[in-house]
Amino acid sequence: MPAKKKAPASPKAKPKAVAAKKPTAANTKVKKSTAAASNPADSISSLMQENRLFPPSKDFSSKAHISTLAQLKALREKAAKNPVKFWEEQAKALTWFKPWKTALKWKHPFAEWFVGGKINISYNCLDRHVATWRRNKAAIVWEAEGGEQRTLTYQALLSEVCKFSTVLKSLGVSKGDVVAIYMGMVPEAIIAMLACARIGATHNVVFGGFSAEALRERINDSKAVAVITQDGSYRRGSIVPLKDNVDAALTETPTIQNVIVYKRVGSDVNMMIGRDHWWHERMMVPMAPCAPEPLDSEHPLFILYTSGSTAKPKGILHTTGGYITQVAYTTKMVFDLREEDLYFCMADIGWVTGHSYIVYGPLANGASIFLYEGAPNYPAPDRIWDMISRHKVTVFYTAPTAIRGFMRAGEQYPISHNMSSLRLLGSVGEPINPEAWIWYHTLIGNKRCPIVDTWWQTETGGIMISPIPGATTLKPGSCTMPLPGILADVVRKDGVSCGPNEGGLLVVKHPWPGMLRTIYGDPQRYKDVYWSDFAPTRTRPGYYLAGDGARKDKDGYFWVMGRIDDVVNVSGHRLGTAEVESALVSHKTVAEAAVVARPDDLKGSALVAFVTLKSGVDSEPSFLEQHREVLRSHVIKEIGHIAKLDEIRFTDALPKTRSGKIMRRLLREIAHGNVVTGDTTTLEDFSILEKLRQDEE
Ligand code: PRX
Repeated sequence: MPAKKKAPASPKAKPKAVAAKKPTAANTKVKKSTAAASNPADSISSLMQENRLFPPSKDFSSKAHISTLAQLKALREKAAKNPVKFWEEQAKALTWFKPWKTALKWKHPFAEWFVGGKINISYNCLDRHVATWRRNKAAIVWEAEGGEQRTLTYQALLSEVCKFSTVLKSLGVSKGDVVAIYMGMVPEAIIAMLACARIGATHNVVFGGFSAEALRERINDSKAVAVITQDGSYRRGSIVPLKDNVDAALTETPTIQNVIVYKRVGSDVNMMIGRDHWWHERMMVPMAPCAPEPLDSEHPLFILYTSGSTAKPKGILHTTGGYITQVAYTTKMVFDLREEDLYFCMADIGWVTGHSYIVYGPLANGASIFLYEGAPNYPAPDRIWDMISRHKVTVFYTAPTAIRGFMRAGEQYPISHNMSSLRLLGSVGEPINPEAWIWYHTLIGNKRCPIVDTWWQTETGGIMISPIPGATTLKPGSCTMPLPGILADVVRKDGVSCGPNEGGLLVVKHPWPGMLRTIYGDPQRYKDVYWSDFAPTRTRPGYYLAGDGARKDKDGYFWVMGRIDDVVNVSGHRLGTAEVESALVSHKTVAEAAVVARPDDLKGSALVAFVTLKSGVDSEPSFLEQHREVLRSHVIKEIGHIAKLDEIRFTDALPKTRSGKIMRRLLREIAHGNVVTGDTTTLEDFSILEKLRQDEE
């Protein structure tokens, strides 16, 4: 039974009008306060206090890698005194072809880890396991959306990766080249990633749900020389035409020389002679063994695009030795990985969670991973529970948005399956609300499984703040404390640490091995975005600005409150509002657009667009009604399905500052249905606000 504790009354608490939630079976124990934790910078307020405690069970702790809080504290303190030494110790768990000379070269804000060392990640994920009894252990257990199954042992995976490495080389792809991967959730996507890592090509995985335009932009920015794709992929019973999208994207991509197409669905696709090659045909040619390339520790492993607050997505660059050190260590410790686990991460390979915690972290540890191709609710809402029970999954890692979707579908689905194989649950991508946490804990974990709520980012490469399940007492909604070797804090705008429960900015105070090295092709932007708010001073080093608001409670637990900039988190994915706005404005009828998020029970955030149409465009209500659908489809075509606008409001004008900046803060408040409370002195034309409030969809 969880122990309960009374919330400390905040003397500075100020009341804020929020609608009280109806009590439900799941949330009746949640003691919510409507008091906002005080924040001198007046930027972020906390509206929630959750006081239940879930200590680890004796049974779990007794078998865990770290089994007591005292052990964890000692490790954290030792690591904090000398983080570089701590990470050196973790790096030694990997196989290096040549040891490093300097563990960290830090020239603010550019880090190099394990300098002078030579390593290959595919060797660490494959060859070194194949040299042991693990060669016949399942590396990937895959289930197609239609139910077909495949298991690849470590030996089989290595042999596929070697063959595909040779295919890449035979097409002229070599060390240092960038290769775009635009695929669904099939083992071949992992084979493609590992083959790139084996020969030293840098992969740029583009989420299969992105449109041709988004793919083209990412290919061009990264100057990719090849694309690896499929004819199509299955999603909710229909076919996503990946190859057609590639064809559309490649009309203006001068750097692409080759396209390799994995036949998955057997649909008719156009194959351009000389440029396009079938995966299965190329893989049939006799192959010589492909030795892993010994790569510098700082060799670029991948570029992954993530949205920023301006229209252009940021190519986050990760390198080799430091990245694999952090993801291998955190996979082992956070998921308390055991040899006999079947580990299932529900993320897509196109997001960083797929990179770090489907592919690299688990395989570096010699784990068996479960990979699922399709939609979580296809053909029925119990698909995931059915697979967990049939395959006897032991560790399950998903996102709060998925959990809320499962909750909405109903508890009859999980309770009809025997999920007693599960021993640990994980959450990532956005703050998990306590109701969802309790539901996850009760219905999925049967009150037995610890939940690791892991905070990290595409930029951080690996998990930064998380419980250690055998040692940490959990609080629903808190990602608890930074991992050993990670010096994270919550600070005020002047860099001073916030007091207990004071909302502030989440920062990292010391370089860590999995950190992004730069924004691809734009080091200045890297500096500006992450390192300029807290540049080094005479009295303190520079801090990394995560861009999230957070508070630490009196026990030092971190509570992340979301993004501080205009990026919106929809279904666990970050979307730059500016990117959505520029997609809207690219429609011939649109003059101007502003996009904001409003809280949504299911998706975390819903997207609301305020749109000004060009003069002369019909303003009849019947036309506008239809036009909403036209614009929705247009944005989906430009960016992909994740950018589906939930609400579109037409307006004559947008609220702007005198210097012409759209005041999204005001729009956000209007979209929330609240009265505008903040400062409006910089507003150019106040009457616009009144008008906007009346113009509801
Ligand atoms: O706002 C935080 C939120 O997701 C952002 C990072 O998004 P992305 O780069 O797409 O990576 C998602 C997967 C690592 C963060 O800045 N976020 C991620 N995990 C959590 C979270 N917010 C609260 N709690 C978390 N556990």
